Amino acid sequence: MGIRLISIVFCSIFALFFMQCQDMSNETETMAAPELYQERHRPQVHFSPKEKWMNDPNGMVFFEGEYHLFYQYYPDSTIWGPMHWGHAISKDLVHWEHLPIALYPDSLGYIFSGSAVVDWNNTSGLGSEGAPPLIAIFTYHDVEGERANTDTFQSQAIAYSNDRGRTWTKYEGNPVIPNPGIRDFRDPKVIWDANSEQWVMVFAAQDRVKIYGSKNLKDWEHLSDFGENFGDHGGVWECPDLFPLYLAEEDKTYWVLLLSINPGGPNGGSATQYFIGDFDGQQFILDDRFQPYVKKKETGEEQAVWVDYGRDNYAGVTWSDIPKEDGRRIFIGWMSNWDYAKVVPTEVWRSAMTLPRTLTLVASAAGPRLQQAWVEEVDALAMEVQEKKSETVQDTINLIKLTPGESVVARLKLRVRSISQGITSFGIMLVNAEKEYYLLGYNVAKKHFFSNRTSAGDHSFSDKFAEAIHIAPYELVGDEMDLDIVIDRSSVELLAANGTVALTDLVFPKADFHHLVFFTDDGSAEVAGTITPLRSIW
Ligand code: FRU
Repeated sequence: MGIRLISIVFCSIFALFFMQCQDMSNETETMAAPELYQERHRPQVHFSPKEKWMNDPNGMVFFEGEYHLFYQYYPDSTIWGPMHWGHAISKDLVHWEHLPIALYPDSLGYIFSGSAVVDWNNTSGLGSEGAPPLIAIFTYHDVEGERANTDTFQSQAIAYSNDRGRTWTKYEGNPVIPNPGIRDFRDPKVIWDANSEQWVMVFAAQDRVKIYGSKNLKDWEHLSDFGENFGDHGGVWECPDLFPLYLAEEDKTYWVLLLSINPGGPNGGSATQYFIGDFDGQQFILDDRFQPYVKKKETGEEQAVWVDYGRDNYAGVTWSDIPKEDGRRIFIGWMSNWDYAKVVPTEVWRSAMTLPRTLTLVASAAGPRLQQAWVEEVDALAMEVQEKKSETVQDTINLIKLTPGESVVARLKLRVRSISQGITSFGIMLVNAEKEYYLLGYNVAKKHFFSNRTSAGDHSFSDKFAEAIHIAPYELVGDEMDLDIVIDRSSVELLAANGTVALTDLVFPKADFHHLVFFTDDGSAEVAGTITPLRSIW
């Protein structure tokens, strides 16, 4: 968006509002400390811990009507430290109840990332007849071993619960997969593979994914490795996930492998790539049509297909044991980036998760691709749905206007049509009383989505936070585009182009964004849709 348009927006909004805002800011100075969940930047519709440090989502499993969300947690600080598994449960994936810490570090090490499953047939023998145990599979990170510069300080271990995840006992035979001498050896994700009738574990080992199999979750056999020659290798591989997805158009089930990498993301720092192929009970085999997009090139120039092009969606994996009659594959990611996660300007807590997303596959000329949508439970947070009747925009129109002090927490579903020839870009702009602005849109000329937070608020805490505009390549076919956006105080999540492009970014505005504008640059477009303010989950 050009300077001309930015000034149009400011001139039209600020004459009136700037004066009111100055009054408001005097008031805030004398206000008492904010209540829990009302703190500056606190997400209102995203999960965040009550207090202290959080990173990766862990152990997501559905059991007896409850979605469990465990997470990397350090209860003594807002900076990463000895890792525990924090714990929360939900009946609807949007409202969360905090539970006591599930797993504490012990003599074998910190509790790093991992997964959980319901052992329906008690194959582990850690439950009892008719009462399946929950089994958590995690990495032990032995700090002493790390300090002593061994290469064997990470290993895979299990713990079990026979009271719906309320209390956990670590298995006495831990670790179940000792380390053979590989420095990065972590983040196990386990699934039951009905075809090969075994538990299958994937975890990250430096530059590849290791695949293991087991009949009882305790004794594991190495089956294969994947990835040394594929995808992005700009950093260490972490947090894989492997699961089947059915593609109706082809009446075929594919296997999807998610893989986080840090650094090496498309816009810097941490990000998650994915691969599509088949799993035969032994090996993950890349789909032929997918291969050209993820081949590690000999020149050192690598290619990857990314789950999310934003800077703030990392270590995401999917829920286990979603009932068959539901059938969804539900994903959640950590809404931050290792480039600056430890210094973002929040005081009581650090980090939130993305909204849960349903993953499906969609056919394309280049083969199947991942498609994302917010879980429909998010709809229950809707306050009044505001219809935006179709309107042709040349420059800007207001989508929502709040009074200073209120902030935009909303979902926008927009359909942009009749995109005129010669238009440079279109999108949304968020504005606040500090004259900060955030831009999210599509650049028709350059064929990419963009998220520009360079003037959107505080970035003094890290040189890396606002060093560039984040882009997601996409070729517009026709003259129509759909945008589904959730704005929640300090984050903006975009799902666009029928859910095939995702872009998630944090923002730390110095005052709440209270104006939301749709803009076009050097041309016009027709916009219609809904703008839905969302109510707080807390
Ligand atoms: C990913 C990660 C994992 C590790 C955990 C430690 O963000 O680095 O590889 O298990 O965080 O907290």
